[in-house]
Amino acid sequence: MVIRAYHESRGDHHRNVCLIPSSAHGTNPASAVMAGMKVVVTKANDDGNIDVDDLREKAELHKDNLAALMVTYPSTHGVYESAIKTITQLIHDNGGQVYMDGANMNAQVGLTNPGNIGADVCHLNLHKTFAIPHGGGGPGVGPICVAKQLVPFLPGNPLIKTGGEQAITAISAAPFGSALACLISYGYIRMLGVKGLKKSTEVAILNANYIKQRLQGSFETLYSENVVVPLMK
Ligand SMILES: Cc1ncc(COP(=O)(O)O)c(C=O)c1O
Repeated sequence: MVIRAYHESRGDHHRNVCLIPSSAHGTNPASAVMAGMKVVVTKANDDGNIDVDDLREKAELHKDNLAALMVTYPSTHGVYESAIKTITQLIHDNGGQVYMDGANMNAQVGLTNPGNIGADVCHLNLHKTFAIPHGGGGPGVGPICVAKQLVPFLPGNPLIKTGGEQAITAISAAPFGSALACLISYGYIRMLGVKGLKKSTEVAILNANYIKQRLQGSFETLYSENVVVPLMK
């Protein structure tokens, strides 16, 4: 919705195409459609990565109406796609904004960040990376973080002033989300500190690789890649 408001503010009312790789989680096309976008699916290659040629072809084909790409980084397969910066650049070159699905932020915190790969929006699943409970219909909170050009469109609230100058309508009843849930994430961040958060990410990556190693031979690992994490500058 924020991306749509950004395009509309520039007179680009027609920009409604959202590219989504076939490897994406089902919530991606579902949210794009709820935000009024038309989803165009792009291919994955045999390694499970985004097929950059197919993405380029579709970005150029839809360049007049391109609104966004939704991309998960690291990918759902647990791979830091080496072409990620090429991917975000080619979306920008064709007039779109990049939405990064932050479900796998536990493999980024303290090592890199969404801005580093050229993302314009990301959400943080607080129940995944920032320690709030998940499931059971509990209070989920998924704040979005945006690049400068999208700040004016951050969601408002009818009762308490939040969001940007040209805010989209409120998307949750409480202006800043659930106070009880957000405090848990705040405590988690404060207690771990910079060093602890980085260590937590390193351990998450180590654990994923450990499990992969232990399962080798008994289960097939569909996709893997030895890619160095692009560290923060
Ligand atoms: C890449 C990705 N996106 C989105 C989701 C959905 O997250 P949520 O549990 O917040 O609905 C998941 C869940 O596992 C995921 O892996």
